[in-house]
Amino acid sequence: MFGFKPKRRKPQTVIADDRLRHVAFIMDGNGRWAKKQGMPREYGHKAGAETFRRITGYCKDIGIKIITVYAFSTENWKRPKNEVDTIMSLLLMYIEEAIRDADINRIRFIFIGNRSFFSRTIQTQMNKLEAVTVKYNNDYILNMAINYGGRDDIVHAVNSLIASGAKSVTEDDISANLYTSHTPPPDLIIRTANERRLSNFLLWQAAYSELYFTDTLWPDLTDRDIDKAVADFYARKRRYGGI
Ligand code: FPP
Repeated sequence: MFGFKPKRRKPQTVIADDRLRHVAFIMDGNGRWAKKQGMPREYGHKAGAETFRRITGYCKDIGIKIITVYAFSTENWKRPKNEVDTIMSLLLMYIEEAIRDADINRIRFIFIGNRSFFSRTIQTQMNKLEAVTVKYNNDYILNMAINYGGRDDIVHAVNSLIASGAKSVTEDDISANLYTSHTPPPDLIIRTANERRLSNFLLWQAAYSELYFTDTLWPDLTDRDIDKAVADFYARKRRYGGI
């Protein structure tokens, strides 16, 4: 399910180390990919879900410990019902596979975003997947952003602080109350499909993330594209505002 089979491939790049613990993906271009094949958008999402399995498996192969994917944004509800229904059913199928394979994959799954909008079945399965994989916290973490928005994440954090009686807040307080409080911020954010923006993804967390953009549409993304992004990341000097 996760696409992980040990020693299946020979990575071209260095194995990720402590400089590259967390990679986040904006999986863009499913619709355009389908259009190019003369197929409906739903077909692109099905292909996108396969790419998601393959790419997350490869990232694990090369030692990336934390992956975050933007699976469904707070704005994606505006899409036609057919398309939303397809994404929901792909999500449910994936979650059920992940529950079945939890002890093979040894990955902790965490859903970030407001899950209260999802069907009861999906919410139940999300909770179950989190519960059965919590013990793998020290191995690999896969954060799935669902009904997620970066602005909503910050508002949700501030409201939690207000509810707990805070009169003023610090940056650390906000970081500790975001949906991602269990993980360090992403070292690298990869966006496919020739768009160069964050689209409300991890706005607070991305403050010092390295950004990598590729023209490749998400369903076409290959392991070699990941190698290129990783090599590009290691060639950069991260200064965090210093010199
Ligand atoms: C962006 O492509 C993609 C999404 C909004 C949804 C991402 C969903 C998947 C990859 C499948 C979900 C399944 C799992 C298992 C995570 P787009 O539709 O915006 O593409 P376009 O910009 O070319 O129209």
